[in-house]
Amino acid sequence: MAASVWLRGFKAAGRQLRPRSSHRRGRGSSVEVASLVDGSQEPDLHENTIAKSFSAVQAARHEQAEHTILISCPPNVTQKKFYTYLASYGLIKKYFFYETFGIYALVEFSDKESIEAIQCSSTIPSLRHECAVPFKSRFFNLKNNHLGSLTATHSSVPRLKQSVIPLNELLQKLSEAESIDEQLYTVLKESQLTEENTRLRFLVCSLLKEIAGAYFPECSIKPFGSSVNNFGKMGCDLDMFLDLDSIGGRNSTKPEGTFSMEYQTKRVASERVATQSILSVIGECIDQFVPGCTGMQKILNARCPLVRFSHQPSGFQCDLTANNRIAMKSTELLYIYSNMDPRVRALVFGIRCWARVQGITSRIPGAWITNFSLTMMVLFLLQKRSPPIIPTLDQLKDQAEEKDKHIIDNHDCTFVSDIKMKPSQNTETLEELLQEFFEFYGSFAFNRMSIDIRKGKEQNKPEASPLHIQNPFEQALNVSKNVNQTQLDRFVTAARESAWILQQEGLKHPKANPWGLTALLLPNSKLSPARSKKRRRQPASERIKFLLDSLKPNKQSTDCLNRPNGIQKFISTVAQ
Ligand code: GTP
Ligand code: MG
Repeated sequence: MAASVWLRGFKAAGRQLRPRSSHRRGRGSSVEVASLVDGSQEPDLHENTIAKSFSAVQAARHEQAEHTILISCPPNVTQKKFYTYLASYGLIKKYFFYETFGIYALVEFSDKESIEAIQCSSTIPSLRHECAVPFKSRFFNLKNNHLGSLTATHSSVPRLKQSVIPLNELLQKLSEAESIDEQLYTVLKESQLTEENTRLRFLVCSLLKEIAGAYFPECSIKPFGSSVNNFGKMGCDLDMFLDLDSIGGRNSTKPEGTFSMEYQTKRVASERVATQSILSVIGECIDQFVPGCTGMQKILNARCPLVRFSHQPSGFQCDLTANNRIAMKSTELLYIYSNMDPRVRALVFGIRCWARVQGITSRIPGAWITNFSLTMMVLFLLQKRSPPIIPTLDQLKDQAEEKDKHIIDNHDCTFVSDIKMKPSQNTETLEELLQEFFEFYGSFAFNRMSIDIRKGKEQNKPEASPLHIQNPFEQALNVSKNVNQTQLDRFVTAARESAWILQQEGLKHPKANPWGLTALLLPNSKLSPARSKKRRRQPASERIKFLLDSLKPNKQSTDCLNRPNGIQKFISTVAQ
């Protein structure tokens, strides 16, 4: 989300923050892209997300993506000639360049006719030793027919990176902040999805819909999870679901009159079997026909069948599921919570970042705690503050209107979609909340109690899993059933250790080196599932001693931390 939203949210909370980094031209900031905007003066959709409901934002994003094309550009393309050429097809609303494995441009036109005109004039490549599958998508190659006419020796286009900020760069920025609150907002600002990355995510869905639409013209492919719930960080996977429920004629009311018609259809044993066969076929088509999609894996026997692949031009790891409407509702719920108070996102991003560095979460599926579970834990804590910072799910249900009523597979997924609540009276700082998080979960009775954001109160654990976080909609399910005792213990140990570090007055002070969140983001190989046992680091108590030592001046052993450029050396050690 754009920096201005971040700051606006911050001001809304009645706090003060020096917006010193908001004016910098950072990675993928919308400021850079604004210089590329042409055409209409419509306000940026990203800027308005706070005011709009989830479904309105989704609909507008889908529409935007339908008007957009993706172009692979020659390495020395120039902006002016590129623009002049593309503008000959119609009014360009926005465009920007980005770099992954090459230079790509995303171009949004005012009218779909412009895209049709490009498609009409584009050719299928004739290859010498291979054969091109003649699938006409909205992903093009920009070819340079006359050397020098479209391109220069060196490309001057401003290219946005689509990758996550490296840890060493993040630590450097955190060391420049003046409070732990500012550090947490810095993590948020530096890691969150940019406007351009969000556009790219919707464009990928829209490109894939062209294939699925060949079989099911009325279907849609919708992103869910962290791509759209406001908790996504750069580099997160792209979760999508193929929505077949919107196909007209399903679940229609009882017909009147003598006759009525229904479609002849294939019959299969269950909805699960239908989902598996549809995903298998669509997955095969994506693999065979859609340019840029590689590494297709069909994971059809999972509880929620899916196909997984990578979309190379965007660099996204994609998971495509079908008929996953409950996940869409939990995405909307998280989106609503994220917009209630600026502290919600900042704390979630901070905790997720901490957990990743500590090796508590991992990109590889396994017995680790997931980002989704961590988010639920933060929300639960915020519900339990006095006064609460966010309401419980039951309170959101009480405010629901008729249009908000949703029963999916017999599960009540009703909650208010247009939130009209007064801001929380709670004035705790993020620093206090961070401390609370570590203390609360460092001493939580995980052996007996379950976390339940519907009630906002601990419940007795209905089953024996080490960590029990009740699924907010499918209430008999545990969203953290995968977590084993070892992983839970690692989390608890890291939480206690971090609570202890934050209590040390010396480590709270920005003059200390490292301090605040920086001290918590020491990668802990002892906890990390990814590191080998052979490369054990010193025990936690020694690391803490090392940190405390670093605060004492004129100590030879900590010399590098006390020199003016000590943080750089510290960071490069940490980043290895
Ligand atoms: P990251 O991908 O780690 O950034 O977070 P994410 O929220 O996208 O998580 P993930 O990709 O694992 O899952 C995508 C979405 O599926 C989540 O946001 C949830 O809406 C939903 N989801 C994931 N795990 C569970 C679960 O165990 N139970 C339920 N009900 N929903 C889940
Ligand atoms: Mg995800």
